[in-house]
Amino acid sequence: MEKRVLFISGSLRHDGFNTQLLRRASRYLSASVSCSFLDYRGLPLLDQDLEFPEPDAVRHVRNEVSAADALWIGSPEYNHSYSGALKNLIDWLSRPVVPGDYSTAAGRGKLVAMSSVAGSSGGSFSLGRLRELLAMLGCSVIEEETLVALGERFGQAALTLLPEEEAALLRECDALLSCLS
Ligand SMILES: Cc1cc2nc3c(=O)[nH]c(=O)nc-3n(C[C@H](O)[C@H](O)[C@H](O)COP(=O)(O)O)c2cc1C
Repeated sequence: MEKRVLFISGSLRHDGFNTQLLRRASRYLSASVSCSFLDYRGLPLLDQDLEFPEPDAVRHVRNEVSAADALWIGSPEYNHSYSGALKNLIDWLSRPVVPGDYSTAAGRGKLVAMSSVAGSSGGSFSLGRLRELLAMLGCSVIEEETLVALGERFGQAALTLLPEEEAALLRECDALLSCLS
């Protein structure tokens, strides 16, 4: 059966650079695997009073993540870390579906690829922290990362990639495909 990659942008803004980079990766990967994007705009802030029974929006993201063979997370960098929206999503995915049984958490043990488009750092702080967070969930995060430091591209609407960034993205796509095969 065709493998599924679920793309998750940590930026909620439409056409944010991270979403654009994910779309680019999905164009490369879609020749070999099924690609879809997670819409988690309706997810409530995690509140333990809301956990059981799970809200519809939570069930939706859990089902999407459970059905995926791999996740590709595109993380912006906010104050040297990942976005609050992404942290909230991962917090929900870390929680058990069956009360007390953490093996039922939708995000547990997932194969994950990561990329970041950010200001001067290219998102290296954000991805470092994200790697630590995902390790807590027992995820297998692939070594390859695509980092894009915007520099003069900051004010542009469309993301253009330098040749080395394009090459890093292709290497990461290949690495993910080899993990999936
Ligand atoms: C609240 C906030 C904090 C930011 N902090 C950083 C930072 O620490 N390092 C960095 O390189 N860029 C930082 N940026 C710039 C964003 O990473 C950059 O605008 C990125 O393109 C946003 O992602 P998006 O285009 O996918 O929405 C920050 C932006 C915001 C809104």
